Amino acid sequence: MCGIVGYVGHQAAGPILLEGLQRLEYRGYDSSGIAVLDRDGALAVLKRQGKLRNLQAAISDMPSGATGIGHTRWATHGQPSDRNAHPHASSNGDVIVVQNGIVENYRELKAELQASLEAEDRTWKSDTDTEVIPELISRELEAGKSFEDALEHAIGRLRGANAIAAIHGANPHKIYAARKGSAGGIVIGYGDGEMFIASDLPALLPHTTTIYHLEDGDIAAINQEGITVRRAGQSPFQPEPIQVDLDPVAIARGPYRHFMLKEIHEQPRALSDTIRGRARLDPPTALADDLSLSADTLRGIGRVLVIGMGTSLHAAMIGRWWMEQIAGIPADFDNASEFRFRAPLLGPSTLVVAVTQSGETIDTLGAMNHVRDRWGAPQVVITNVDGSEATRQADASIIMRCGPEVGVASTKTFVGSLAALYLLACRIGHAQGRLSDENLTLRLEQLLTAPSLLERGLELADQCARIAQQFDSASDFLVLGRGIEYPLAMEAALKCKEISYVHAEGYAAGEMKHGPIALLDQHFPVIALAPRGPLFGKMMSAIQQVSARQAPVIAIGDDGDEELSQQVDHFIGVPPAPPLLTPFSLTPVVQLLAYHIALARGLDIDQPRNLAKTVTVE
Ligand code: AGP
Repeated sequence: MCGIVGYVGHQAAGPILLEGLQRLEYRGYDSSGIAVLDRDGALAVLKRQGKLRNLQAAISDMPSGATGIGHTRWATHGQPSDRNAHPHASSNGDVIVVQNGIVENYRELKAELQASLEAEDRTWKSDTDTEVIPELISRELEAGKSFEDALEHAIGRLRGANAIAAIHGANPHKIYAARKGSAGGIVIGYGDGEMFIASDLPALLPHTTTIYHLEDGDIAAINQEGITVRRAGQSPFQPEPIQVDLDPVAIARGPYRHFMLKEIHEQPRALSDTIRGRARLDPPTALADDLSLSADTLRGIGRVLVIGMGTSLHAAMIGRWWMEQIAGIPADFDNASEFRFRAPLLGPSTLVVAVTQSGETIDTLGAMNHVRDRWGAPQVVITNVDGSEATRQADASIIMRCGPEVGVASTKTFVGSLAALYLLACRIGHAQGRLSDENLTLRLEQLLTAPSLLERGLELADQCARIAQQFDSASDFLVLGRGIEYPLAMEAALKCKEISYVHAEGYAAGEMKHGPIALLDQHFPVIALAPRGPLFGKMMSAIQQVSARQAPVIAIGDDGDEELSQQVDHFIGVPPAPPLLTPFSLTPVVQLLAYHIALARGLDIDQPRNLAKTVTVE
């Protein structure tokens, strides 16, 4: 979703801002813009609908300046267009703002400001909610306030969650940034005589690994030497930066054609890194040093509720399965965007586990807020971003160690989430005495084989590509699974929808005959997830029902399964896995099928239309 960058220093800001925006492209956007300020306070704004190349093509016409801000916009209020792209200016042109988030009361604020604008013969220049922000600031400046006071006042008037960057003609060597609520972060980067800001770390990494995360409610003034933060109840202060050890090379695409493909192939390493030191066998312990919940809290858990959205919801569904089967505890999953609106009944002994790779998804944060305010139940977040908003809200965090994920489609963070959920189930089961030392050892030993299951799945890439190419013109897919493979069928369908723009439905195979079977004919391919396990016989029945309707079947089952391979049109054999570990053996194959269908259709795989990597609006 929208991205923010900013620069103040001694170099021309325009190219630096543009390069930063390119590094945020993965977030998803439909227009972009930059504003630069020269040493005399002259402001120039450039905005373009569509891809960043449109902005790049026009940048040489822009006057240079060593201070500036930039933005990639994912439209919420007003169509994607040059006019609605950020940055937005106050009506006198002196204050320039970019924003991530939504000004929920923008209609009221626009109505309030309307009379003054009309009296000065000025008009709104966009259809966006954001435009009220520079206008509010500008009115306060006219009333004699400093920029920081004016910004603080304006933010106080906004309802909703907002991350903001601003520049002001009268302060040519400063950028301002503010964060309110959960509209995504603002990271400040420290250079040598220059400073950077960005909504996400990847935009800063080529310049610096010395950073500071603004906290909720912070207002920052940044010049080329450093940053001063205002925080409620404290005197203004210069914060202590931290060092991050992320390697800029880790976010480069390397030899891979797309980040998604690179990230699919990084899964064995992401999984090994996530479980390293957390699955010890002697004595058997799971998450020994990584879960800051007391032994009493763990023993007192009576039920686990796992929540998330999209791919994280599918991980949550699998997590529910493990909580029941491994920890032996009642468990549910829920869609975070629906959860809080049905007045759920939790009780204090429910442990809520929020899964969110970004840690910034507004639906998940909203659900976590509800849990805290209404029930005070303990919460654990599973995320790939340490320091994200979700980690601040939760009582304990399990940080995946997947490295930055750039492709919009979640891949390696899916298996990272799974690993964390599996370990958590082991920890709870053991803490409650339901999982003996011996069984915990067995479970952990099985988890330690999961990276090699992924490796062997990746070896099937060529076969996946060949099969996918035969279905590149299919307009629908049904993906069937049972038991622990059912959530994976939903994940496979989501991947097809996201990057291939093909209509796909993930279904519990037993449900197929209750409706979806009416769709089937020779033009409607069905992907069947059918490893050998307790429900294999029932999957075979479903596959026979599909074949009887002439629908082509692509089955993914255990390598060497003759019975299955003879029944279907296409067979992909994955390494046989213990029943609770099949998500790890099947995941790379379903991801690769979706990837190669999208590739064959010539689509923009890393930045699919209309999608955003981090969804910070409701
Ligand atoms: C997954 O491929 C999607 N990009 C999307 O469904 C995603 O999983 C969802 O938006 C949740 O994101 P989160 O994990 O950052 O909370």
